[in-house]
Amino acid sequence: DFYVKLARTGVTIAIPEGMSISDTLREHNIKVNTSCEYGVCGTCYTTVLSGEILHQDTYLMEDEKQAQDCMMICVSRGKPGTTIELD
Ligand code: FES
Repeated sequence: DFYVKLARTGVTIAIPEGMSISDTLREHNIKVNTSCEYGVCGTCYTTVLSGEILHQDTYLMEDEKQAQDCMMICVSRGKPGTTIELD
């Protein structure tokens, strides 16, 4: 598991193993935009304010991934046990 903190509301949500961030947020009635759900289209691009991202998409360029300031929430995750803060 890891945690996602939503900067605009201050809410922190646990993301269970096997569930994507986008699906978990939806379960909490938080509106998220996705399309492909496979990390290829870029629709779910989300700004990351802090935290360690484990990128699993094929949309971002390698340097964008290394910058650790954005992520594809349909596939990518946080480091287990840590919290990532999303804008
Ligand atoms: Fe397409 Fe996430 S929905 S990259």
